[in-house]
Amino acid sequence: MKILGINGSPRIGGNTDILLDKVLEGAKISGAETEKIILNKLKFVGCQECREMPDDRPCIIQDDMQSIYPKIKNAERIIVASPIFFGSITAQTKAMIDRFQCVWRAKYVLKKDMFSEKKIGAFISVEGSNIEYFFTNARQIIKNFFNVVNIEYKYELFCPQTDKKNSILDKPDCLEKAFELGKKLATF
Ligand SMILES: Cc1cc2nc3c(=O)[nH]c(=O)nc-3n(C[C@H](O)[C@H](O)[C@H](O)COP(=O)(O)O)c2cc1C
Repeated sequence: MKILGINGSPRIGGNTDILLDKVLEGAKISGAETEKIILNKLKFVGCQECREMPDDRPCIIQDDMQSIYPKIKNAERIIVASPIFFGSITAQTKAMIDRFQCVWRAKYVLKKDMFSEKKIGAFISVEGSNIEYFFTNARQIIKNFFNVVNIEYKYELFCPQTDKKNSILDKPDCLEKAFELGKKLATF
């Protein structure tokens, strides 16, 4: 079982990163092979709206996104992790998602599914405030993305009132839930 975690936070070792590591720890202990991508360490641009693809070839922009497509394709479970920034996911996470426009076009316009393998996915998020609709906004974007790449949105974990770096460490219940989420992902 290959499980891929995608961290969209720019703060390495921050709340999202710690929470994602907990999920991956739970998955690993249950026998899964895990990998983590930190989007902020990669160099890639947002979608350029080329709209010129004559067929279902993948995105033509040659940057670090080219390493992400096969990693998502080859994983059976995907965890997207992003803190809430301005009531939504981070720019890094959204930029990655927008680069799946080639997959959207292939699927819905050309009727060719580039990501036909069915996968199971989870979304985990943190925010400084305690405002539920920020998570609701973010959830909808992740669901849109998951639909395009045939990932079933199965699990989620939202941890509010988590602002300072590492403050998630003061929330053992969240860390425990993350660990359990990882175990579930690896076994179901
Ligand atoms: C640019 C920016 C925008 C933010 N916007 C929000 C927001 O809209 N709502 C909120 O509750 N917290 C907001 N926060 C707080 C972060 O969600 C919070 O600090 C979180 O713990 C950061 O996670 P990280 O440590 O994984 O990066 C924002 C933080 C930054 C840096």
